[in-house]
Formats: sequence, C-alpha cells, structure tokens
Amino acid sequence: MALLTNAPRGTQDVLPSQSGRWKYLEKTAMETAALFGFREIRTPVFEHTELFTRSVGDTTDVVQKEMYTFQDKGNRSITLRPEGTAGVVRAAMQNGLLGDALPVMASYVVSCFRYEKPQAGRLREFHQFGIEMLGAAAPSADAQVIAVANEIFRVLGVEGIRLELNSIGCPTCRAAYHKKLVEYFSAYKDKLCETCLGRLEKNPMRILDCKSPECQEIAKGAPKIIDYICDDCREHFEGVKTRLNAMGIDFVVNPTIVRGLDYYTRTVFEFVSENIGAQGTVCGGGRYDGLIGMLGGKETPALGFAMGLERLLLLMEKTGAQFPEEPACDIYIASMGEAASVKACQLAMQLREEGFFAQCDSMSRSLKAQMKYADKIGARYTLVLGDNELETGVAKLKNMATSQQIDVKFEEGGVLTAIYENDQNDTIEQIAESFGDLPLKNLL
Ligand code: HAM
Repeated sequence: MALLTNAPRGTQDVLPSQSGRWKYLEKTAMETAALFGFREIRTPVFEHTELFTRSVGDTTDVVQKEMYTFQDKGNRSITLRPEGTAGVVRAAMQNGLLGDALPVMASYVVSCFRYEKPQAGRLREFHQFGIEMLGAAAPSADAQVIAVANEIFRVLGVEGIRLELNSIGCPTCRAAYHKKLVEYFSAYKDKLCETCLGRLEKNPMRILDCKSPECQEIAKGAPKIIDYICDDCREHFEGVKTRLNAMGIDFVVNPTIVRGLDYYTRTVFEFVSENIGAQGTVCGGGRYDGLIGMLGGKETPALGFAMGLERLLLLMEKTGAQFPEEPACDIYIASMGEAASVKACQLAMQLREEGFFAQCDSMSRSLKAQMKYADKIGARYTLVLGDNELETGVAKLKNMATSQQIDVKFEEGGVLTAIYENDQNDTIEQIAESFGDLPLKNLL
C-alpha cells in the first residue's frame, strides 16, 4: 500500500503552493533567452535509445548507468530523455532546420530522467531550462550563449554563483591529450574503478568526471587538456574570453572542467555555487561541433547549455532571492442558504468575467467557516449574502485588511454599486482608497 501513495524515489511533486515559483523561473528564462533571439522548441519525452548512446556517448555515466530504457510494445528500444540537446538536434535535422536560416536558435524547458543516487539537488526526474544554437562557429556565439545564462541569473537576482570556463579542444588536439591521459592513468590501474578501467583505452577523458571518490582523487593529478589544445582552439578560446570581458561577464578558467557528456568540443562552461551542497553545478554547457556530423548530418558547429531548475530554485531559496507574490483572491462571496448560494455563484462568475479573482463557497459550510476560509486564502474583500441581502439587493462588502465595511448594491452584470452610508462614516475618498480596485460604480 505504501508504494501506491509514495512517488517513486528521486521524483518530486510541485504542489500548487510552489508552482508559482516554477512558472516564474521558466518564464524569466524563456523571456530572457527570447531577447537574444531564442524561441521555444518542444520535443518528445522519449526518443530511440540509439540517439542518446550515439550523442551522449556509450562510455559516459549517463549511458552506462543512468538511462531509463525499455522495449516498447513494438519491440523498439526507447529511452526517456536524460538531457535535452540530443532531441533538439534530432528535431532540427529531421525537420530540415539546418538548411534554413542559420543559426537555429531554440530554447526549451524539459523534464529529464537519470537513474542516479538521489540526494539534495540530484533527482531521477529533474527539469532543465536550456538553449541550443546550431550552425554558429564564431567565438561570439559562445560568448552570447554564456551571456544568456548569465543574464537569466542576473534578472532572477541569483547570488553566490561563479562562471567557470575551459576549452577541451577539438578531435585533432585531443588525440595527443588522450595519449598523455592513458600514460598517466595506466600507473593507477589497480586503483581505478571497474568502469574506468574499461574507459582507459576507449575514452580516458571520461575518467576525469567519474563519481567514485578514488577515481576523483587520482584524476586530480592528471594532465590538463588546456595545456594540449591546438593554436586554432586556443585562438577561439581567447576570442570567447575577450567578448565575455567586453560584456562585463566575470569568469574564471577552470582547467579541470571536462563535462559528463561525450559530444563536447572546445568551449565548456559551468555556473557553480557553493551554497547548495555537493551538487553545486547549476548550469552546464558548451560547444558540440562534431555532434550533427556524427549523427549523419552535414558537419555543423553548435553549442548550448542547460540549467537544472531544481538546483536553481534551491540556490535562490538558500540565498534569499525574491519571488513575485502569488495573486490573492480579490473577493470571496460568502452565502447563507440555498438561494444566496445560487446568487453567490452567479455574482462570482460575473466578477470573473470582469477579470477579478473571485471565489464562493463550494463546501456548503457555515458562514463562520466560510469567513475563516476567506481569511485563510488571503481574500482581500468579502461580500456576505443571506436571505435579507437577496431581498434588499444590498450587502456588506468588507476590506479584510482594514476591516472597513460598506454597503453595496449588487446588480446583474457583476457591478457592485457603493452606497455611501457605511458603518464608520468614512468619507467617500476613504472608501475609494479602500475599495477603489473593485468594480464599484458611482464611487467618486
Ligand atoms: P548536464 O551537465 O548533464 O548537461 O546537465 C545540465 C544541468 O542539469 C546540470 O548542471 C544540473 O544543474 C542539472 N542536472 C543534471 N543532472 C541532474 C540530476 N540528476 N538532478 C537534478 N539536476 C540535474 C546537459 O544536460 C547538456 N544537455 C547541457 C547542454 C546543452 N550542453 C549543450 N547544450
């Protein structure tokens, strides 16, 4: 029974009280990216498994250990997307976007799935906001893609985050580096984990981001790719840094960044925070100039990033970032008796048509319980309807913050007409100030 009412390990619900924060992050990220020219793309939650094994790479942790892969009823191997890039690239290739105006600039919010060991900031279902720019080779593309992430953090008021940058070169310069790595790691064959022993010949760079603490310790002394990159890659990297400086974007070069996915070339970067525990990488990305060619398309340079929305939210909450207020109920219409309940439904509907956030009783509760509820949901105004009110067409409207009350006539069409006599003998101006944002006719 317990299983039935417990979400699977590593997943998380976003409850109604939290969803406003999520929408705020997603909207801010999307709108900020749109200012640079990125528009939303939506791709399937699942793809053919081969898309990920080929693009993410079959010696990565993601492919070797973490994918949610299954046979569908048609005997195809299907995988829930562990990340967003592969699907976007596949969609661009399939729909001929790469033959159109370049660069293709796409943004997305996606759920991703990785069978990882859950901990703070690490889930099995998580969410990413990301962008991809396909067809752009120049250093200004790298700088602008990085600027999108930087700008999102700035607009959201995210503090305590650092941009780290590296270049991991191209296939040409990487060949020499691989040799050096094999030399270095071969001396530790008896200490490396099983998976890394397999990686030693096939893809030694993957050992550098193995999650095993022993391998991580050994990796600390390994040669750094930045010392082996070719002149072209170095020039490109310098071009990126110059433009970041010109845009006023702070960064540090961290020669140990290699990223966990195989498709990267040249520029790689991460936005890292020390405030949210071991899983401090809030955003990661870089170039993947070889990916489209490797998937059978024309060689096309490309790059992008993705930020983990759970980690971003965690960081913002930890560092006291501001979130917009959720809209509160404008008016709660309480009612006593059947006829008043019908009228409350009607009046609330008419007020909504005017654009107001209006609620009325849906539990057949007592008046006292309804008022308690109105208070709990933070209703700004309440209107009480009973038999007497229905007869006279006049009811008490109360400002919940000031406790000020006035009599109003309620009419067809959702218009409440203020009647100037009120309990506290307030002036019309005071009433206007207190109730002015409701559709009160004849108020001034
Ligand atoms: P990634 O570094 O694997 O890159 O993931 C990007 C971000 O997703 C991470 O920095 C982290 O914030 C978040 N993330 C990853 N795994 C988890 C998890 N298990 N739980 C919570 N958050 C997680 C990519 O996915 C690339 N596709 C990024 C990219 C786009 N590169 C180029 N274009």
